Amino acid sequence: MKILVTGGAGYIGSHTWIALREAGHTPVIVDNFANASPRVLSRLGQLFQTEPVCIAGDIRNATLIERVIEDHGCEAVIHFAGYKAVGESMAEPLKYFEVNVGGTERLLTAMANTGVRKLIFSSSATVYGDPEILPIPEDHPLSTASVYGQTKLIVEDMLRALHASDPQWAIAILRYFNPVGAHPSGLIGEDPADTPNNLMPFIAQVAVGRRPHLNVFGNDYPTPDGTGVRDYIHVCDLAEGHVAALSLLDEPQCTALNLGTGKGHSVLEMVEAFERASGRHVPYRITDRRPGDIASCYADPSRAEALTGWRAERGLDEMCADVWRWQSQNPLGYLDVAAE
Ligand code: NAD
Ligand code: WQD
Repeated sequence: MKILVTGGAGYIGSHTWIALREAGHTPVIVDNFANASPRVLSRLGQLFQTEPVCIAGDIRNATLIERVIEDHGCEAVIHFAGYKAVGESMAEPLKYFEVNVGGTERLLTAMANTGVRKLIFSSSATVYGDPEILPIPEDHPLSTASVYGQTKLIVEDMLRALHASDPQWAIAILRYFNPVGAHPSGLIGEDPADTPNNLMPFIAQVAVGRRPHLNVFGNDYPTPDGTGVRDYIHVCDLAEGHVAALSLLDEPQCTALNLGTGKGHSVLEMVEAFERASGRHVPYRITDRRPGDIASCYADPSRAEALTGWRAERGLDEMCADVWRWQSQNPLGYLDVAAE
């Protein structure tokens, strides 16, 4: 299938580009490189001998999106593009509403105008707020504590309304838990522009010597060792989940699926697993809780398996080994790539 992949130069998008190519699909990327390096494209080109088809552009430009869909004959859209930093979303809410909500509305309008009504949307476990039930099923009540989370909830509501107004739409809303890991080639990985907000890239930067220690945000949560518990999922499993979810687009529907492993791991378990995988010591200090954090969050992923046959296969050691390969081969991320 020919598929428009918005944000396809980003962390999850670039791994999904690989999974799509491996499954025989033809992805076409639109990315404005707000949070990606163009060097991703040459790295993907190294893996597949030809560079990805990528149009540098913005999802807010509906005219451009319509032209790309028509020029490339795209039959479906996988929509990753947007901003994702929770703290920044509280400081700059309009930026988040404009791109994540407004940009998605423009994209949907371009799709409607070109008659493409098949969509996979990147949502997040953040729409479950502080969970009342663990593992979290898709019919768990929705709420959120951040502007970033609000943008995901608004877009989910927009998609449900769109499907109600025109039942020909086929929409898969994928709620990711905590994506980590990197492609096993060591060529592609997560490359935060500034200080990492998320645990795994922070641990990796400590292990490689870019940062002196990890701050562990609280050890007084009601969890086995007191530190926060999350459902870390290998980004390659997540990418394959998108390929599997394409099968849902054969029939009109609007369906939400959790993409997680169903297993929770604490911050200290992650530190230990990373030390095992890297052979490096990861010093840490216990600090105060991070405002807005919750104790535990992990998925009931059974619906995804029942509807698409997909389930996460890669374990914690593989996630850490792949991050370490990426981080140690590219200590400064894509900045380390000589002109390719
Ligand atoms: P990312 O920042 O690496 O990728 C997003 C991509 O979108 C980047 O390449 C960026 O340049 C591009 N982009 C941003 N604004 C754009 C615009 N206006 N027009 C065109 N391109 C634009 O993030 P990611 O981790 O790959 O996340 C992808 C999606 O998954 C996002 O929607 C994110 O909210 C969602 N998500 C991510 C996580 C996570 O922890 N990484 C968890 C749940 C959901
Ligand atoms: C994991 C655990 C922290 C950093 C966020 C977003 C969510 C989704 C994924 C996009 C927690 C602890 C972290 C550090 C630490 N993104 N931690 N020291 O908070 O589960 O989810 O990213 O949709 O919306 O909220 O992920 O990786 O930030 O934190 O102790 O330096 O690690 O307290 O327990 P989180 P995370």
